[in-house]
Parts: sequence; C-alpha cells; structure tokens
Amino acid sequence: MEYGSDMAPTTSLPFDLRGKKLLLIIAGGIAAYKVLEVIRRGREAGLEIRSILTAGGAQFVTPLSVAALTENKVYQEIFSLTDESEMGHIRLVREADLILVAPASADIIAKMAHGLADDLASTALLAADKPVLIAPTMNVQMWAHAATQANIATLRARGIELVGPGKGDLACGEVGSGRLAEPPEILAAIARLLGHAQGPLSGKRALVTSGPTYEPIDPVRYIANRSSGKQGHAIAAALAKLGAETVLISGPTREPDPLGVRTVHIETAAEMLAACEANLPADIAVCAAAVADWRVAEHHEQKLKKEAGQDAPVLRLATNPDILATLSTAGAKRPSLVVGFAAETEKLIEHAKAKLARKGCDWILANDVGPGTGTFGGDSNLVHLVSRSGDEEWPRLSKLDVATRLAARIADELTGKHPTKEVKV
Ligand code: C5P
Repeated sequence: MEYGSDMAPTTSLPFDLRGKKLLLIIAGGIAAYKVLEVIRRGREAGLEIRSILTAGGAQFVTPLSVAALTENKVYQEIFSLTDESEMGHIRLVREADLILVAPASADIIAKMAHGLADDLASTALLAADKPVLIAPTMNVQMWAHAATQANIATLRARGIELVGPGKGDLACGEVGSGRLAEPPEILAAIARLLGHAQGPLSGKRALVTSGPTYEPIDPVRYIANRSSGKQGHAIAAALAKLGAETVLISGPTREPDPLGVRTVHIETAAEMLAACEANLPADIAVCAAAVADWRVAEHHEQKLKKEAGQDAPVLRLATNPDILATLSTAGAKRPSLVVGFAAETEKLIEHAKAKLARKGCDWILANDVGPGTGTFGGDSNLVHLVSRSGDEEWPRLSKLDVATRLAARIADELTGKHPTKEVKV
C-alpha cells in the first residue's frame, strides 16, 4: 500500500462523524493493513475509535500502529485485570455507537454465527447491543463454502450489516470474491449506519455516472476516451455531502473513490447500464460519464495477430446503449430528476435544448469545450444549466464548485430547501 499517496489528508470530508464512537474489532487477515486507513480517515471525520485486536489480527498489524492512529488504548486480552477494571468488554460495547469487524475472517464470522465467546473479540460481539457491521475477507473458496454462506445468512437474518467482500485479485494469488471492501466503501457504510449524513437531500437516493468507458477490441486492446472522471466524482461527493445516499458508477479513472459514496467500478457501456439499472430506483440521476458511443461489434476471444503480409484488420462497430436516454425513459423507475451533460464547441444552448428533447432528461449541463477553453481534463468548467423552462449561465467555476452548485440546485428543486451557505460562487 502506498501510504504516501493514499493517506494524504483529506481536506473536505463529505460527512461529519464528530461525537460518534466506533468499536473496531480487527481480526486476522492479510488485508488488515487497509483498516489503518479506515482508522485514519475515520479520525479525520471526527470518529472516536476504540479497538480490539485479536491474536490473528496482531499477526498482521501491530498494537502500536493501531494505538497511534486511534489515539486510544488497544484491547487484546479478555483476562487482563487492568483492562477489566479500566474498561471491561461489556463497557467497550455499551459505550460504542457502532461495532465494526474489519477484516472479518471466516473464523470470526463462524464464531459470531454460533455464539462462541472464547476471546475478547467474540465475547464483546456476543455482548453487543449495538449495530454491527462486518467487512469480510478470505480466500474465494472459503467465502463460497456452504459453511461460510450459511453463517453469513445467519448473521444477515440477525440484522448484521455487511460491506463487501469485493471481487478481484486476492492476496492468496487466486481471483474471485473475498477482497476486503476498500476503505472509502467501509467509511461510507459506517456513515450510513451512524446516520450522520444529514442535509437537504437526506432520504434521497442518487445515481451518478462518471469517467470513460473502455470497449474491448480483444483481450489486450480497447477503445476509450480521455475523460478524467473529475466532474462526475465531484458531483457524487457533493450530493453525498448534502445527505443523499449516493452510488457512483465509474469507468476506469485515476480519481479516488469519493468518501461517503458507494462506488461501483465498471469498464464497458453495457456494464455501466447494467450497474445503473441494478441501482434503481433512485430520486436523482446525473450522467456525467463520457460513455463510448460505439463498441467493437465482434468479440475477439484471442489477441488479434499481426501477420506479415496481411492487411490491417477492419473493425466493425456497434452502437452502445444510451444510458441517459434509458434512465430518462425508465417508466415507473425513472428518477424524479435526470441530469445529463453536453459538451459543445458551438451553438451551446441550441444544441443543449435539442439534446434535452432527444434524451428526455430534465436538465442538461451544457459545457463549453470550444478550442482554448481547457475544459476537457482540466480543473474548471464553463457551464449553462439548460432546462425546459430556460437557460442559466454559470460563471467559470472549478469542477468542484460546479458540483457543489449543481448539488445545491438539485436539493432546491427536489425539496425547496436552500443549502445556500454551502454554495460559494
Ligand atoms: O449524446 P451525447 O454523448 O452528446 O450525450 C452526452 C450525455 O449523454 C452525457 O450526459 C452522457 O453521460 C450521456 N450518455 C450516456 N450514454 C451514452 C452516451 C451519452 O449516458 N451512450
């Protein structure tokens, strides 16, 4: 893990967890190191964290690092007289608002499901009277095993919340389900369960698309575009900051997953559409992604070979689904407010109005990307908000300020509540 880059202090957290208390149980798992980032970013958001480190957990992270980052004592032993007199396991759970088990190993999940209490962590969990969130991680076969799945079903039925596991490369060298959820996802789950995210959009669900899509030519080549994802990611963070439960469907970008937002990573337009549909119903949809207009019509299972003397291959393209238009015409599941983007080099308003009608959305943020504007890939945007009732010209703003202003306008439109203090223009 690259702490230098990943753990740079976040200046603007989309939620405030001051006054909230987390009991963090760190069980054994190679991904335990990721929990250090959860601690650090949780502390930045004002969360007070007490921790229990199991014997397995202590094989992967040291009590010293956990104590230093939580700025609190780390509890390890059930039968420590000092700990029991200072802070028994009952008090540890009573004084917490939420209990997080991360990483949650197959072993601790089994103990929880069967009510075992043979160490401090399992005893505290059995005594828990607070919401419990677990972030499982293990080998793909261990996760898929009928015993683990039965234990997870038991825990779910008892109201225990899960974050992850994700799919991907596992530390054991295998690939599949079993990756610990990423820290921003864990923090978003904590924030959701602690019900912190209060704002004019509390209780509303938002869906945001961002970044480019990658359309494969063969297993190693793809068609893509230069979208950075900056604007879409900033919009997702801004909506979450106003209290919306926000899902970001993102193509491949260099942007970090925004805190307080659930980010779903996809590559192709078809995957982006499927992920959007899987996350309906929503109250708000903002389509900021630069979806590839075309994909390669034939799927090449093997790498196309460059043979001497042969002509270059001809790629036949097929048109991708239009996600904005699909969401705008989703019938009963249509979000109340659907917002699209239009990048135009000329006749900005005229083209935006035509797009509004063609796609069936409610607003178009029309971007002036004319030569010399530096909008694409840059940090600022020149935007008009075009709706059926007219056209609002916004001054040149940073992409972050465009996001803040758009989120405020959305809150205004849906609730009539003005978060005006937060809009710096
Ligand atoms: O048609 P055009 O690409 O100019 O429209 C741009 C708007 O439509 C953006 O909001 C973009 O996110 C959305 N879009 C989409 N799916 C596509 C193409 C564009 O959602 N296949």
